[in-house]
Amino acid sequence: MDLVIRPLNADDAEMYRSIRLEALRAHPEAFGASFDAEAARPVAFFAERLTASAVFAGVHNGTLLGTAGFRAESGPKQAHKGLLWGMYVRPIARGSGLARRLVEAVLDHARERVELIQLRVVADNAVARALYASLGFEPYGIEARSLKIEGRYLDEVLMVKMPP
Ligand SMILES: CC(C)(COP(=O)(O)OP(=O)(O)OC[C@H]1O[C@@H](n2cnc3c(N)ncnc32)[C@H](O)[C@@H]1OP(=O)(O)O)[C@@H](O)C(=O)NCCC(=O)NCCS
Repeated sequence: MDLVIRPLNADDAEMYRSIRLEALRAHPEAFGASFDAEAARPVAFFAERLTASAVFAGVHNGTLLGTAGFRAESGPKQAHKGLLWGMYVRPIARGSGLARRLVEAVLDHARERVELIQLRVVADNAVARALYASLGFEPYGIEARSLKIEGRYLDEVLMVKMPP
Protein backbone atom coordinates (compact mmCIF):
# COMPACT_ATOMS: atom_id res chain seq x y z
CA MET A 1 0.00 0.00 0.00
CA ASP A 2 1.30 3.44 -0.98
CA LEU A 3 1.07 4.98 2.48
CA VAL A 4 2.88 8.10 3.62
CA ILE A 5 3.40 9.13 7.25
CA ARG A 6 3.37 12.90 7.58
CA PRO A 7 2.61 15.57 10.17
CA LEU A 8 -0.76 17.27 9.73
CA ASN A 9 -1.13 21.06 9.60
CA ALA A 10 -4.02 23.48 9.95
CA ASP A 11 -5.02 22.91 6.30
CA ASP A 12 -5.82 19.28 7.21
CA ALA A 13 -8.28 20.29 9.96
CA GLU A 14 -11.43 19.16 8.13
CA MET A 15 -10.26 15.60 7.51
CA TYR A 16 -8.55 15.42 10.88
CA ARG A 17 -11.85 16.37 12.54
CA SER A 18 -13.55 13.55 10.65
CA ILE A 19 -11.13 10.79 11.73
CA ARG A 20 -10.92 12.11 15.28
CA LEU A 21 -14.71 12.10 15.70
CA GLU A 22 -14.86 8.60 14.15
CA ALA A 23 -12.35 7.41 16.77
CA LEU A 24 -14.22 8.96 19.68
CA ARG A 25 -17.58 7.67 18.51
CA ALA A 26 -16.42 4.10 17.78
CA HIS A 27 -14.14 3.69 20.81
CA PRO A 28 -15.42 5.79 23.73
CA GLU A 29 -13.60 3.44 26.11
CA ALA A 30 -10.20 4.07 24.50
CA PHE A 31 -10.00 7.86 24.88
CA GLY A 32 -10.26 10.35 27.72
CA ALA A 33 -11.96 12.86 25.40
CA SER A 34 -15.66 12.52 24.63
CA PHE A 35 -17.37 12.44 21.23
CA ASP A 36 -20.14 14.84 22.29
CA ALA A 37 -17.73 17.49 23.54
CA GLU A 38 -15.51 17.43 20.43
CA ALA A 39 -18.37 17.07 17.92
CA ALA A 40 -19.67 20.40 19.19
CA ARG A 41 -16.38 22.13 18.31
CA PRO A 42 -15.86 24.07 15.05
CA VAL A 43 -13.21 23.13 12.49
CA ALA A 44 -11.10 26.01 13.86
CA PHE A 45 -10.70 24.10 17.13
CA PHE A 46 -9.12 21.18 15.27
CA ALA A 47 -6.93 23.53 13.21
CA GLU A 48 -5.69 25.07 16.45
CA ARG A 49 -4.94 21.62 17.87
CA LEU A 50 -2.90 20.73 14.78
CA THR A 51 -0.86 23.86 15.45
CA ALA A 52 -0.40 23.25 19.20
CA SER A 53 0.39 19.52 18.91
CA ALA A 54 2.32 17.48 16.38
CA VAL A 55 -0.18 15.02 14.93
CA PHE A 56 1.21 12.40 12.57
CA ALA A 57 -1.04 10.64 10.11
CA GLY A 58 -0.88 7.70 7.76
CA VAL A 59 -2.20 9.03 4.44
CA HIS A 60 -3.23 6.86 1.49
CA ASN A 61 -4.50 8.53 -1.72
CA GLY A 62 -5.41 11.66 0.23
CA THR A 63 -7.32 9.74 2.93
CA LEU A 64 -6.25 9.64 6.56
CA LEU A 65 -6.01 6.06 7.80
CA GLY A 66 -4.62 6.67 11.27
CA THR A 67 -3.21 9.28 13.63
CA ALA A 68 -0.93 9.65 16.65
CA GLY A 69 -0.28 12.90 18.49
CA PHE A 70 2.64 14.35 20.44
CA ARG A 71 2.62 17.25 22.86
CA ALA A 72 5.41 18.49 25.10
CA GLU A 73 4.31 19.56 28.55
CA SER A 74 4.51 23.27 29.32
CA GLY A 75 6.17 24.92 32.30
CA PRO A 76 9.84 24.94 33.31
CA LYS A 77 9.51 21.92 35.59
CA GLN A 78 7.58 19.74 33.17
CA ALA A 79 8.95 20.65 29.75
CA HIS A 80 11.28 17.62 29.73
CA LYS A 81 8.20 15.37 29.42
CA GLY A 82 6.13 14.59 26.35
CA LEU A 83 2.80 12.89 25.84
CA LEU A 84 1.73 10.43 23.18
CA TRP A 85 -2.02 10.79 22.66
CA GLY A 86 -4.80 10.25 20.13
CA MET A 87 -3.64 6.88 18.77
CA TYR A 88 -6.15 5.60 16.24
CA VAL A 89 -6.11 3.45 13.12
CA ARG A 90 -9.21 3.03 10.95
CA PRO A 91 -10.49 -0.58 10.93
CA ILE A 92 -9.63 -1.06 7.24
CA ALA A 93 -5.94 -0.41 7.96
CA ARG A 94 -5.52 -2.34 11.21
CA GLY A 95 -2.99 -5.13 11.49
CA SER A 96 -0.88 -3.58 8.71
CA GLY A 97 1.76 -2.09 11.00
CA LEU A 98 0.41 1.44 10.65
CA ALA A 99 0.08 2.04 14.40
CA ARG A 100 3.68 0.96 14.87
CA ARG A 101 4.85 3.36 12.14
CA LEU A 102 2.85 6.20 13.69
CA VAL A 103 4.31 5.65 17.16
CA GLU A 104 7.79 5.46 15.63
CA ALA A 105 7.16 8.81 13.91
CA VAL A 106 6.12 10.31 17.25
CA LEU A 107 9.20 8.87 18.96
CA ASP A 108 11.52 10.26 16.26
CA HIS A 109 9.91 13.67 16.73
CA ALA A 110 9.99 13.45 20.54
CA ARG A 111 13.64 12.39 20.78
CA GLU A 112 14.92 15.86 19.90
CA ARG A 113 12.43 17.63 22.16
CA VAL A 114 11.92 15.76 25.43
CA GLU A 115 13.72 13.34 27.75
CA LEU A 116 10.84 10.93 28.23
CA ILE A 117 7.47 10.23 26.72
CA GLN A 118 4.39 9.12 28.61
CA LEU A 119 1.01 7.73 27.62
CA ARG A 120 -2.06 6.29 29.26
CA VAL A 121 -3.98 3.29 28.00
CA VAL A 122 -7.12 1.64 29.30
CA ALA A 123 -6.09 -1.48 31.18
CA ASP A 124 -8.16 -3.92 29.14
CA ASN A 125 -6.96 -2.59 25.76
CA ALA A 126 -4.66 -5.57 25.16
CA VAL A 127 -3.84 -4.70 21.55
CA ALA A 128 -2.68 -1.16 22.35
CA ARG A 129 -0.75 -2.30 25.42
CA ALA A 130 1.05 -4.97 23.40
CA LEU A 131 1.89 -2.40 20.76
CA TYR A 132 3.35 0.07 23.27
CA ALA A 133 5.26 -2.63 25.17
CA SER A 134 6.80 -3.88 21.94
CA LEU A 135 8.03 -0.33 21.25
CA GLY A 136 9.74 -0.04 24.64
CA PHE A 137 7.10 1.61 26.81
CA GLU A 138 7.02 0.33 30.39
CA PRO A 139 4.17 0.56 32.88
CA TYR A 140 4.86 2.83 35.87
CA GLY A 141 1.47 2.93 37.52
CA ILE A 142 -2.22 2.37 37.31
CA GLU A 143 -4.84 5.04 37.74
CA ALA A 144 -7.79 3.15 39.18
CA ARG A 145 -11.18 4.39 38.01
CA SER A 146 -9.51 6.85 35.67
CA LEU A 147 -12.51 7.04 33.32
CA LYS A 148 -16.22 6.73 34.02
CA ILE A 149 -18.42 5.95 31.05
CA GLU A 150 -22.15 5.55 31.61
CA GLY A 151 -21.63 4.40 35.16
CA ARG A 152 -18.77 1.99 34.33
CA TYR A 153 -15.28 2.68 35.63
CA LEU A 154 -12.13 1.97 33.61
CA ASP A 155 -8.62 1.77 34.99
CA GLU A 156 -5.75 3.23 32.97
CA VAL A 157 -2.18 1.98 32.81
CA LEU A 158 0.42 4.76 32.80
CA MET A 159 3.39 3.97 30.56
CA VAL A 160 6.70 5.69 29.92
CA LYS A 161 9.58 5.36 27.47
CA MET A 162 12.77 7.01 28.71
CA PRO A 163 14.45 8.27 26.59
CA PRO A 164 11.94 8.31 23.72
C1 LIG B 1 -4.65 -0.02 18.84
C2 LIG B 1 -4.59 0.28 17.35
C3 LIG B 1 -4.10 1.71 17.15
C4 LIG B 1 -3.60 -0.69 16.68
O1 LIG B 1 -3.51 -0.35 15.29
P1 LIG B 1 -2.90 -1.34 14.18
O2 LIG B 1 -2.57 -0.52 12.98
O3 LIG B 1 -3.82 -2.48 13.98
O4 LIG B 1 -1.58 -1.88 14.86
P2 LIG B 1 -0.32 -2.51 14.08
O5 LIG B 1 -0.77 -3.23 12.85
O6 LIG B 1 0.72 -1.45 13.88
O7 LIG B 1 0.20 -3.56 15.12
C5 LIG B 1 1.18 -3.19 16.04
C6 LIG B 1 1.19 -4.14 17.19
O8 LIG B 1 -0.09 -4.10 17.83
C7 LIG B 1 -0.38 -5.38 18.34
N1 LIG B 1 -1.55 -5.88 17.64
C8 LIG B 1 -2.14 -5.37 16.53
N2 LIG B 1 -3.25 -6.06 16.23
C9 LIG B 1 -3.36 -7.02 17.18
C10 LIG B 1 -4.32 -8.03 17.45
N3 LIG B 1 -5.41 -8.18 16.68
N4 LIG B 1 -4.12 -8.83 18.52
C11 LIG B 1 -3.05 -8.65 19.34
N5 LIG B 1 -2.11 -7.71 19.14
C12 LIG B 1 -2.27 -6.91 18.08
C13 LIG B 1 0.81 -6.23 18.10
O9 LIG B 1 1.70 -6.04 19.21
C14 LIG B 1 1.40 -5.59 16.89
O10 LIG B 1 2.74 -5.92 16.83
P3 LIG B 1 3.33 -6.89 15.65
O11 LIG B 1 3.50 -5.97 14.49
O12 LIG B 1 4.63 -7.36 16.22
O13 LIG B 1 2.33 -7.97 15.41
C15 LIG B 1 -5.96 0.10 16.66
O14 LIG B 1 -6.43 -1.20 16.94
C16 LIG B 1 -7.01 1.11 17.11
O15 LIG B 1 -7.07 2.22 16.56
N6 LIG B 1 -7.84 0.74 18.10
C17 LIG B 1 -8.93 1.60 18.59
C18 LIG B 1 -8.42 2.85 19.30
C19 LIG B 1 -7.42 2.53 20.39
O16 LIG B 1 -7.54 1.57 21.12
N7 LIG B 1 -6.40 3.42 20.50
C20 LIG B 1 -5.38 3.31 21.52
C21 LIG B 1 -5.67 4.28 22.63
S1 LIG B 1 -4.42 4.20 23.90
